Amino acid sequence: MNLIKKMLVANAAVLALWAVSAQAATNDDIAERIKPVGEVCVQGEECKGIEAVAASAGGGAKTPDDIIAGHCGACHTTGVLGAPKIGDAAAWKERADHQGGLDGLLAKAISGINAMPPKGTCADCSDDELKATIKKMSGL
Ligand code: HEC
Repeated sequence: MNLIKKMLVANAAVLALWAVSAQAATNDDIAERIKPVGEVCVQGEECKGIEAVAASAGGGAKTPDDIIAGHCGACHTTGVLGAPKIGDAAAWKERADHQGGLDGLLAKAISGINAMPPKGTCADCSDDELKATIKKMSGL
């Protein structure tokens, strides 16, 4: 092989490598570009998307005040659709007695009841966070 041929072969090899790595990068880019804008979370399954957002938004556990401000308060502040009002101890006590205490209320808050949506729309709230929030709203 003369020198020119050797150089051409070397160039071709470099070009082939470049093409392979360029293709790999492009596949990643495409995957990134076509990934869904939103992700649907199904109740009962882990929802990584929302957790990541929640963690980056505030980090750590949510306080009852945060949860009330972001979710429950929309209905429970004024008693929308017959929701027991925040601080109306008698209304909450009656419900607690009916459901078998705070844990009974928690179970209903998780599953939802009539116009009360599951988890009060706080899909990423843990059971403990919901329980603390119910305590705060009811004074129980
Ligand atoms: C869209 C309005 C709405 C939101 C948001 C909402 N609730 Fe409710 N909630 C209701 C209504 C209406 C009821 C009364 C349901 C009934 O008994 O018919 C209720 C009832 C409850 C009860 C009593 C359940 C029972 O067994 O009597 C609990 C506990 C409760 N909500 C907790 C929460 C918590 C905690 C949040 C926030 C994480 C929340 N709710 C958010 C509307 C709402």
